[in-house]
Amino acid sequence: MSGALRAVIKGTGSALPRERVSNAKLAERVDTSDEWIVERTGIKFRHIAAPDETTATLAADAAKAALEAADMTAADIDLIIVATATPDQTFPASATKVQHILGVYGGVAFDVAAVCSGFLYAFSVAESMIRAGSAKNALVIGSETFSRILDWEDRATCVLFGDGAGAVVLCAEEDSERGVLACNLHADGRHNELLYVDGGPSTTGTVGKLRMKGPEVFRHAVVNLSDVLKETLADAGAEASEVDWVVPHQANKRIIDATARKLKLSPDKVVLTVDQHANTSAASVPLALDVAVRDGRIKPGQLVVLEAMGGGFTWGASVVRM
Ligand code: UT7
Repeated sequence: MSGALRAVIKGTGSALPRERVSNAKLAERVDTSDEWIVERTGIKFRHIAAPDETTATLAADAAKAALEAADMTAADIDLIIVATATPDQTFPASATKVQHILGVYGGVAFDVAAVCSGFLYAFSVAESMIRAGSAKNALVIGSETFSRILDWEDRATCVLFGDGAGAVVLCAEEDSERGVLACNLHADGRHNELLYVDGGPSTTGTVGKLRMKGPEVFRHAVVNLSDVLKETLADAGAEASEVDWVVPHQANKRIIDATARKLKLSPDKVVLTVDQHANTSAASVPLALDVAVRDGRIKPGQLVVLEAMGGGFTWGASVVRM
């Protein structure tokens, strides 16, 4: 190849655990109510993984669907990145397990840990490797089983999360009009205590449970997300008014609405799946993207913005011509 390389989304896919749990069902075991959850978050359902459904199996199912949509096979793939905070094992990387399930050997496979913005991080790394010519066809996957790290006694967190996976096939194209126009990533490690897991291999030797100071995370989220959206749109040379679809991280409908308002983006242009999936961390953006591609809302040629923010804090955005 001699022209400028662009990373183009060729296909999307997703996978959800079989069991779908309503707020009412959750309220049978947690001191909460459907009214509180819907009013404060917009969440109505979440999927919860069974023991045979793991981060790697969900990731592989999402990857297979994305490959089929791209009309490609696993043999075409030379890079697999799984964004996850809930890997099957501390090591090896879940990406190598996905590689094994897909039956491809060779190429590069690794995990990225940036919690809820993990997909944006993985997407940006894959895009950079494609532009540099070190990968041709990448599977970028966000997959999580947060139900395994929730404290089911803590109603302030356990009602917010769900399990699932989403994937995109990202391919090198020369001098394409389509593809990733801009990516920006950020991190600020001062905020560990606002959103973290209280365990780990090097500290407690346990997996730990999720802990969050929700209202403080909320305030940071709206500021960071609107800033990174403005920055990334400017880098892509695009105005907010030109955006066809925003695919935000699905943590809370109120965060999504407040961020869209700050950018004067119409709510009609925002893909919302938090009602159906709850917060699936790194899976949320590719899962929402796949839903909107498959139901025909997102079409080839449209300008799409992806954004997410999560533990660390980490946050990021990308502008893509589909
Ligand atoms: O994906 C990573 C990023 N994460 C996020 O973006 C999450 C950001 N934060 C949020 O989405 C919101 O802050 C929450 C949804 C977590 C909480 O909503 P809030 O409006 O900030 O509520 P709050 O934490 O201020 O709690 C309000 C009240 C409290 O009762 P009092 O003290 O006012 O009597 C809580 O004890 O709601 C109570 N509460 C609940 N009540 C019923 C907390 N959780 C529940 C619950 N059911 N599940």
